[in-house]
Amino acid sequence: MLALGIDIGGSGIKGAIVDTETGNLVSDRVRIPTPQPSNADAVVATVRQLINELRFENGPVGIGFPGVIRANTIYTAANLEKCLIGVNLEKRLSGMNLGPVRVINDADAAGFAEMEFGAGKSHRHSGTVLMLTIGTGIGTVLFTNGHLVPNLELGHIEFKKKHAESYVSERARIRKEMSWEKWGKRFGSFLLYLEHLLQPDLIILGGGGVKKPKLFDEYIDIETPWELASSGNKAGIIGAALAACETED
Ligand code: BGC
Repeated sequence: MLALGIDIGGSGIKGAIVDTETGNLVSDRVRIPTPQPSNADAVVATVRQLINELRFENGPVGIGFPGVIRANTIYTAANLEKCLIGVNLEKRLSGMNLGPVRVINDADAAGFAEMEFGAGKSHRHSGTVLMLTIGTGIGTVLFTNGHLVPNLELGHIEFKKKHAESYVSERARIRKEMSWEKWGKRFGSFLLYLEHLLQPDLIILGGGGVKKPKLFDEYIDIETPWELASSGNKAGIIGAALAACETED
């Protein structure tokens, strides 16, 4: 089935049409800068523009958003404008000629893509898989026996008396001009903590912040096997498209 996957981020809103059988993109990947300020009307207008640019009609649309999502409604927006909270993106797209629209957390979307086509494939139906996306924020995703625990949000726990995301995200590394050694040690200890907490069978690391694993992998000292996400910056788009098709069942 063809579905449209959209990934809303702090700097760009990206989308493409996805063949959900193969996980391949069958259109260009369109990226429009996230409007600043990112109020609801501006974000909705950009999403509509993206759908129009891709000339997508009549099919399922999945949207990943960097916050807690319940019933297609935004509940938190740690790194975007707070006025987005309470917005039901599905309702705000009504009137367009689309199939079912489903909104989910962006990291959960990336997790779906990795479990179906990427690093998590071998644990698609069994075991516990923890995925982290490292970027502006820290996304956390947990699958047990193939089932997602939605909206996990472990990036916002207190870790070493700090807000974990502000301590160990990619943005924290860049803003505080941390060396890779310093950041790697922080990240390694965060992974160790999550490993003790959740005892996963596999940890998947994704997001722009782990693109150069050679710079920090020596500081990761966990027993759990870990792998890099394999869908790169397309995971959020692919996973959102997959999630949209689930509503068709
Ligand atoms: C948000 C999460 C999101 C993550 C990655 C965090 O700040 O709270 O919902 O998944 O960033 O974008």
